[in-house]
Amino acid sequence: MAENQKDIVTIDGPSGSGKSTICRIVASRLNYTYLDTGAMYRAVGYKARQQNIDLEDGPSLGLLLDSLDLTLLPGDGDTRVLLDKKDISAAIRTAEMGLVASKVSAQPVVRQKLTQMQQKMGEKGRIVAEGRDTGTVVFPGARYKFYLDASPEERARRRYLQLLEKGEKADQQDILAQILKRDANDSSRSLAPLKAADDAVIIDSSQLSIDDVVHFILEKVSASLANSTK
Ligand code: DC
Repeated sequence: MAENQKDIVTIDGPSGSGKSTICRIVASRLNYTYLDTGAMYRAVGYKARQQNIDLEDGPSLGLLLDSLDLTLLPGDGDTRVLLDKKDISAAIRTAEMGLVASKVSAQPVVRQKLTQMQQKMGEKGRIVAEGRDTGTVVFPGARYKFYLDASPEERARRRYLQLLEKGEKADQQDILAQILKRDANDSSRSLAPLKAADDAVIIDSSQLSIDDVVHFILEKVSASLANSTK
C-alpha cells in the first residue's frame, strides 16, 4: 500500500445511494477532508455547456480543462464549488447536470485530468473520497474502501422524498428513469466504469438508515486502525 494512501477512505457507488450524506458525516467524525469527485465532473460539464462544447468532443474538452479554474471548499452541507471564482454549487446539482457530468466523464481527457487533480488533493492523506472510481482508479492503495449500493427503486424513492422536502415538484417514475440511465452510462463506459474494487466492502443500504451505514463504516475503520497499531 502506498504510504500516503494509508489514511484514505473511498466510498463509491451509483447515484442516489446516499454517498454524499454518508461521506460528509464520516469525514467529519474522523476529522478528515471530504473530497466530492462528482462535483468536479459536474463543474466540467457545466463549463462545457456554458461554452457550447459538444459533450463528446475530446479535443475541445481538453482545451477547456487546460484553463480550468476550479476550487472545492468545504460547506455546511454540500461542498461549495467555485468555477472561475464564481459559486456554481447550486447550478451543478440538478438532475440535468448529473446526466451532463455522466456524459463528459466518459471522455478519457476529462478522466485523466480530474484523476490527476484528485490524486494531488489526496497527497497528504486523511481524506474521504466519494465517486465512482475512487477505490479502483484514483486511490487504488486506499486502506479503507467501501461500495455503497441500494436498489434503483429505493434510490428513486429517496431522491423523490428529498425533492419534495425542498418544495420541488417531482415524479418518482421520471427519477427512476434518470437513475437507470445514469447507472447504464456510468457502468458501461470503457474507462474507469462504476464498479466495486475487489477489496471494497460492499454495503447494500436498501434496508439501512444513514446512521446504520455511518456506524458500520466507522466501526470497520476503527477496527482496522486498532489492528494496525498492535
Ligand atoms: O456523484 P455525482 O452524482 O455528483 O456524479 C456525477 C457524475 O459524474 C456521475 O454520473 C458520473 C461522474 N463521476 C465519475 O465518472 N467518476 C467519479 N469519481 C465521480 C463522478
